[in-house]
Amino acid sequence: MIKAVISGTGLYTPPATIDNDELVEAFNQYVEMYNLEHADAIERGETEALQPSSSAFIEKASGIKRRHVIDKTGIIDPKRMAPYIPERSNDEQSVQCDMAVVACNEALAQAGKTASDVDAVIVACSNLQRAYPAVSIEVQAALGIEGFAYDMNVACSSATFGLQAAVNSVESGSARAVLVVSPEICSGHLNFRERDSHFIFGDACTAILVEREEDTQPGHGFEILGTRLKTTFSNNIRNNFGFLNRADESGIGKPDKLFIQQGRKVFKEVSPLVAETIQSHLDSLSLAPGGLRRMWLHQANLNMNQLIARRVLGRDATEDEAPVILDEYANTSSAGSIIAFHKHKDDLISGDTGVICSFGAGYSIGSVVVRRR
Ligand SMILES: CC(C)(COP(=O)(O)OP(=O)(O)OC[C@H]1O[C@@H](n2cnc3c(N)ncnc32)[C@H](O)[C@@H]1OP(=O)(O)O)[C@@H](O)C(=O)NCCC(=O)NCCS
Repeated sequence: MIKAVISGTGLYTPPATIDNDELVEAFNQYVEMYNLEHADAIERGETEALQPSSSAFIEKASGIKRRHVIDKTGIIDPKRMAPYIPERSNDEQSVQCDMAVVACNEALAQAGKTASDVDAVIVACSNLQRAYPAVSIEVQAALGIEGFAYDMNVACSSATFGLQAAVNSVESGSARAVLVVSPEICSGHLNFRERDSHFIFGDACTAILVEREEDTQPGHGFEILGTRLKTTFSNNIRNNFGFLNRADESGIGKPDKLFIQQGRKVFKEVSPLVAETIQSHLDSLSLAPGGLRRMWLHQANLNMNQLIARRVLGRDATEDEAPVILDEYANTSSAGSIIAFHKHKDDLISGDTGVICSFGAGYSIGSVVVRRR
């Protein structure tokens, strides 16, 4: 039987960063401008005055300190509050493809492989910058990979769902090796004018190479012991942007055409589901939670991750056991748990077991249990 292993990971981090103070300053300038412009209506009680944001709230509520973004200037301009990412001609590589190529090349180098060793590319992320041709096929062409490619979207769980698809392809024999790439430009769908969530997201791209065990060097990479996917429908995280928007002009530009969530409800409903999913997945593999060396959790909220780790382990997890990258990256959607894995996997020793776990809109949860070879 063919067994799949993770033989390499890569990461593209945009150089520009915005810390909480810079983001809050821009937001509060926007609030002042808005309240001044609507002063009469506010005075008459017809419009509600906007409330300022605060860095202290952001760090306490989420654990986020800063985020990397593709474009900083547009986001912190209170008159714009959206990234400025110029459209490119059809002859140029797309932004997502640029990010993907960097991350994929690092994953290939880590595995000691080249494009000729790979048969498939899956671009798995929350937002695709166009409907078609598939971004994955563009990445495939840019890397010079034969075979096939496709895009998929399961919001924050895209990468772990993509991992399961890659494992299936490798273990069924339809591909020798598969790259799972998550180019997340979350600043493109974040409403920087919304106080409840303007601080949540950042941009990054991850890549994972999944290969046949027999094609890898003994002792290199991570054996994939199992994958477990879970979805259950919820309206608490939504983005109604879509190709039918033009069929009803009344909705164009409304806040629901960007990311919108009931954060408190998401926290309460998703945390127990995630803990249960990890526990039952470990149980099905005859692994005890106490034997877990590391949990690379989705990076949306520090308090949420601490709660989930506590439920799984039955005690508080140390930062070594459940590493945090959201302080530096914020929520990078499906890339988050993979960034944590990429940055915090090399110190594990042969036989160490860990779980990569994503969760988010859908709701969707993806659990991937791995063992250091
Ligand atoms: C979004 C999130 C950080 C908000 O934290 P929270 O503790 O739930 O905060 P709440 O939205 O309940 O707001 C608490 C208070 O802070 C205020 N507040 C909200 N945003 C604020 C801001 N930017 N600055 C200052 N105060 C703010 C609220 O108005 C509220 O005030 P009140 O108590 O007077 O009503 C948190 O709910 C979260 O991360 N949830 C999980 C989301 C998730 O994982 N989503 C997956 C996405 S892919």
